[in-house]
Amino acid sequence: MNSQIYQKLVENAKILENLHLRDMFNEDPNRFDKFSIKWNDWLIDYSKQLLNNQTLDLLNQLSKNAKIDDWQQKMQSGEKINTSENRPVLHCALRKKKGELLLNGENVLNRVNSVLHKVESLIDGVTNGIWLGSTNKKITDIVNIGIGGSDLGPRMATFALSKYWQPGIKVHFVANLDGTDLTLVLKDLNPETTLFIIASKTFTTQETMQNAISARQWVVNKLGDESVSQHFVAVSTNINEVIKFGINPENTFEFWDWVGGRFSICSAIGLPLAMAIGYKNFHQLLLGAESMDEHFFNTPFSQNLPVILSLIEIWNTNFLGCQSRAILPYSQSLSYLPRFIQQLEMESNGKRVDRQGEFINYQTSPIIWGEVGTNGQHAFYQLIHQGKIKIPCEFILFKKPDYHFENSNSHHAKLLANCFAQSEALMKGKTKSEVEAELAGYSEKELQLLIPNKTFAGNQPSTTIVIPELNPFNLGALIALYEHKVFVSGIIWNINSFDQWGVELGKVLANRLLPMIERTEAITNLDSSTAGLINFIHN
Ligand code: F6P
Repeated sequence: MNSQIYQKLVENAKILENLHLRDMFNEDPNRFDKFSIKWNDWLIDYSKQLLNNQTLDLLNQLSKNAKIDDWQQKMQSGEKINTSENRPVLHCALRKKKGELLLNGENVLNRVNSVLHKVESLIDGVTNGIWLGSTNKKITDIVNIGIGGSDLGPRMATFALSKYWQPGIKVHFVANLDGTDLTLVLKDLNPETTLFIIASKTFTTQETMQNAISARQWVVNKLGDESVSQHFVAVSTNINEVIKFGINPENTFEFWDWVGGRFSICSAIGLPLAMAIGYKNFHQLLLGAESMDEHFFNTPFSQNLPVILSLIEIWNTNFLGCQSRAILPYSQSLSYLPRFIQQLEMESNGKRVDRQGEFINYQTSPIIWGEVGTNGQHAFYQLIHQGKIKIPCEFILFKKPDYHFENSNSHHAKLLANCFAQSEALMKGKTKSEVEAELAGYSEKELQLLIPNKTFAGNQPSTTIVIPELNPFNLGALIALYEHKVFVSGIIWNINSFDQWGVELGKVLANRLLPMIERTEAITNLDSSTAGLINFIHN
């Protein structure tokens, strides 16, 4: 990070830390207009962030110095910006509808489009009863087996878009190595009418391969070996492993090493989602993502949503010392969004080495966590309101409800009221004098106890994203918004957001421990805790 601007931001933070958002709103009636932007009927209100004009000017300089536009250019031209894996980063090509994108002289959009056609034909085949199970029964259930990026995105979006589910097809997701996951999903299904999607970029991930082997056994037990081709398709970059597993290459939906797992929902990894909502709606999701790409690549940074969200994150993380951020969608349909953003941000930017391989001395990704409103209000909001940690919150909500329960409007109005009330309360807090006024008539002793308990410090920063309605287009744009935000933060932190070496060590050690747990190898060369834990399991 540029040290001169960095120093100025440090100075600015010292001033801001002594200010209160309540006073900043009182002093400036135009604060909302200054610190909010509109895009496509969306509103992003960041006026409740603890920042002022100077902060924003400095952050804008920071973004200029980081040369975000050069990085955008590198990304779009297919330069290998994922340097530690020597790969380009081209998830935007998955939804680019115009022009071309040349990689080694080949227009990758042609490949993308041919896989999309294949996705469309499979959906058509399954829904119209052309693709049948091995006993000629219509497929009614699709089970996606995948984990991480091969699960979280399609699971989140499938759940979010329940209003668009196609009749006659139910989509299920299995991720966990714990056999409970597969058992509970399969217990009500019939192999004759079930189609499995084995989704794995590498096709070597232990969890997915174990679940895939068990699922194949479940099918073969009832329908025989020859049924596999009718009941299994694969989504992968590793065709050789797919073939070894026994899936027909013709039933394999390809994607490429230039699509990161957590950035892959617009690739064939979106197949279960496309099955659930139909191809036309999936196409709308791609168009929504593309419209956010265009916004990101073509809008001045001061009005650029991913850039603004990133700069706010940098401010809170590196200058106000916040260590986490809460994702709080006020939408039941976005129940899985916090988990999706958690992987996207923490796996991308949870790094301590810069692009040059040097250790860095500043914080990178905050801890991302969250829950839908209003449920979270009755669980952890207490800590945000009265704990001692500064937690930036991101509220996401829709103007229109997804469903009107028996034509009642009360649910949505109450939901919105709660969402806005929370951000207001977090910003304003409740002063000692406000509490005193409420407690008139109480004894001195009671006041001593109650006043501190009923006082709220406020000054908790938040951003509110209001979207007209939850539909495939807007969801695609929301996904792309976070994808690009992650990229911009990575640029400013000078880290590679597209590798994930930190997940490797645990995988290697699990493979080493497995024979010791299965008693095929002696327990040797382990620390006393790990050895003690295995011994305890054996006894
Ligand atoms: O957790 C590590 C990781 O490699 C993620 O990045 C990825 O999304 C997930 O595992 C699944 O990988 P694959 O799609 O190769 O099975």
